[in-house]
Amino acid sequence: MDTFESGHGFEDLPPEWRSVSRRWGHSLHSLCSYFAMFPPQLARFFVNWLTEPGDAVYDPFSGRGTLALEATLQGRRSFSSDANPLAVVLSRAKTRIPSQRALLKRLAELRNGYASASICIDDEPPHIAMLYSDATLMQLVWLKSQLDPRDDVDCFWIATILGMLHANHEKSGATRGFSISMPNTFAMAPGYVARYIKEHGLERPTVDVFAMLEQRLGRLNLPTAKRVSGRTWLHDATAPPPAWLVRERPKMIFTSPPYLQVIKYGKYNWVRLWFLGEQPSEVDQRLMASASLQRYLAFMEVVSKNLRQVVAEDGYVCFVIGDVRRGEADLNLAQAVWDNVLRAQGWHLHGIIADEIPQQRKVSRIWKHNSGRATKVDRLLLLSPTPRGLPDIVKPSWDAHRTFADTRT
Ligand SMILES: C[S@@+](CC[C@H](N)C(=O)[O-])C[C@H]1O[C@@H](n2cnc3c(N)ncnc32)[C@H](O)[C@@H]1O
Repeated sequence: MDTFESGHGFEDLPPEWRSVSRRWGHSLHSLCSYFAMFPPQLARFFVNWLTEPGDAVYDPFSGRGTLALEATLQGRRSFSSDANPLAVVLSRAKTRIPSQRALLKRLAELRNGYASASICIDDEPPHIAMLYSDATLMQLVWLKSQLDPRDDVDCFWIATILGMLHANHEKSGATRGFSISMPNTFAMAPGYVARYIKEHGLERPTVDVFAMLEQRLGRLNLPTAKRVSGRTWLHDATAPPPAWLVRERPKMIFTSPPYLQVIKYGKYNWVRLWFLGEQPSEVDQRLMASASLQRYLAFMEVVSKNLRQVVAEDGYVCFVIGDVRRGEADLNLAQAVWDNVLRAQGWHLHGIIADEIPQQRKVSRIWKHNSGRATKVDRLLLLSPTPRGLPDIVKPSWDAHRTFADTRT
């Protein structure tokens, strides 16, 4: 590994993670799409720089588990929580990764069970039935009834299914997912999808879910042995942290809190939440979503107070916070959080640096007319609980992204 010269401040940090291809990352990162994920390169850089193998790292807004996977790949102990049950399943799949053999064995069991099961799809909601052929829906309903998210192998299969529940078809007509042709990233409102199906005469494809899952698994490049690197749990970041997490003393908390009312995670994931047996409106109620700056700052005040209890005394907290549009101007939300919340809590600030993101890469562009929309600037706000220096910057070995580090924990 290369190191940069020592003595750099955070503000001089070269955007090393931007020098790597946009497609960089382990194939597991793309298990299922998720709004407002941060780039794996960024997570990799900070895990390498601020932690050592065996250290604990924590993401309290873990989303699809980008930090969780990078920490796991690099032999760190990974702790992740989120108030969205979809995020918990995705992050858990990247923290407790089963072996390919165990996954294939379970898939065979499920396929055999399905062969002799009698499954009724009459009670499934019409807006779900409009997406899948009857044969495909029967397989999905069977898998939904059999898979237990508390089991690591089953949780991994659930996450894989969630990633394939809807996707566009290829020009050739080949399917990438199980549904009629529709975007993979998010699902438009059921009424809109119903009209679209009718107007464009879309046919529900008959696909074999079991065969597609097996093919997908073959492309995920899993470790040969199972890899269990930590824990993931459902948790509202404004609630007190669990005592066991406080005892873990994570060396680094690296996280991207929600922005000002940019994203309705429940509403746009109604198909995935059907599979999880969750109500989209209930999920959205549990998540922070307010266009009020005052409420957002009050939220961040509680969150950062909780994180102060958790992070190691010699550790670091990095918030990735995007600028948001307020009226005609862009608001530097990270700076506002520092000025109004963190400074008074006595944190040591290493600096706030801008990370420019090409606009078209942000999924949140579909909300471009919203007042709280995300703009092209994300900012990294780096803190420590007490004044301390920064370690020498370590360049990750970017070419090793396809493998899991040897370090076992
Ligand atoms: C910007 S996203 C994080 C994305 C993540 N870094 C990734 O790479 O996928 C913000 C996350 O905050 C979660 N969230 C919103 N309100 C929350 C709350 N009160 N407590 C915990 N998580 C919350 C959302 O469910 C979402 O997953």
